[in-house]
Amino acid sequence: MGSHYSVLLGESIESLNVKEDGIYVDLTLGRAGHSREILRRAKKGKLYCFDLDEEAIGESKPILDEVGHNYEIIHSSFAFLKEELLNRGVEKVDGIIADLGVSSPQFDEGSRGFSYKEDAPLDMRMDQSQSLTAAIVCNTYPEEELRKILYEYGEERDAPRIAREILRSRPLTTTFDLVEAVKRAKSAKELSKKGHPAKQTFQAIRIEVNGEEKALQRMLEVAPSLLKPDGRLAIITFMSLDDRLVKRRFRELAVAEGDRRSIALLPEQMERKEFSLYSKKAILPSEKELGENRRSASAKLRCLIKNP
Ligand SMILES: C[S@@+](CC[C@H](N)C(=O)[O-])C[C@H]1O[C@@H](n2cnc3c(N)ncnc32)[C@H](O)[C@@H]1O
Repeated sequence: MGSHYSVLLGESIESLNVKEDGIYVDLTLGRAGHSREILRRAKKGKLYCFDLDEEAIGESKPILDEVGHNYEIIHSSFAFLKEELLNRGVEKVDGIIADLGVSSPQFDEGSRGFSYKEDAPLDMRMDQSQSLTAAIVCNTYPEEELRKILYEYGEERDAPRIAREILRSRPLTTTFDLVEAVKRAKSAKELSKKGHPAKQTFQAIRIEVNGEEKALQRMLEVAPSLLKPDGRLAIITFMSLDDRLVKRRFRELAVAEGDRRSIALLPEQMERKEFSLYSKKAILPSEKELGENRRSASAKLRCLIKNP
């Protein structure tokens, strides 16, 4: 796919129901694909964009300037969404969007160390000003912690063997050092399976380096409380790990206890919920999008609505 393909663009913007004078937040600016569409619609409103990556911010400014100037870019983790908005005097917003994970340019630029397909320093930082890198994780974390990360964030069944092999291979300096360590740890049967053998390991270490799960959990805690009546929170995920967190949180907020357990409750027993689901099931990319953009294959969109 091209580097600037925004996943589920039409569907996510539609779910946000952008108002001309609304206040919106794009938690994952990337190359401004979603932000640009919001800005086009919120002509008299305001858009706040978050990203950890200075390169993403630098490249997005001219894209947004072509559309309008009623935006502000915040170089911070979306984990601090509430604090950053409060610092700007913003308490409630009309819509929040997050398109989680690594961007195509981050993957495609081999030197960033996100890809197991290119040899590069073990980096994987979205925010290049932070100190924790993949090299530090691989070379200093205890075996037990590495194993836990590989299990939890990579859903990697060979976690114990890979963790042990990472320790044996120290010091690891490049992405290919890590790929080789994973290959040594896996059985011939595992290596013959479809898909790259180091995919899960790279995913796990990347999530640890960037604190992705913790940031998502924190954001899911606060974002719903920032919505105005009829405000929307739209989230696109690419990993089952993330989708599970989003799905659970949205259900907790929007689905009444009786419906959650599929048992009939009397109306007076039903909790009154402050939120609704935009759609019961996650929205998936169309056949057309799947054909055009291979990376959209695992994408899922969910949207929460604050009841008017
Ligand atoms: C999939 S891309 C977004 C692409 C964007 N929607 C577009 O259409 O161009 C994800 C972006 O979110 C950023 N990001 C990931 N986690 C973040 C976090 N916790 N806080 C802020 N930005 C984050 C990454 O640096 C990356 O640029």
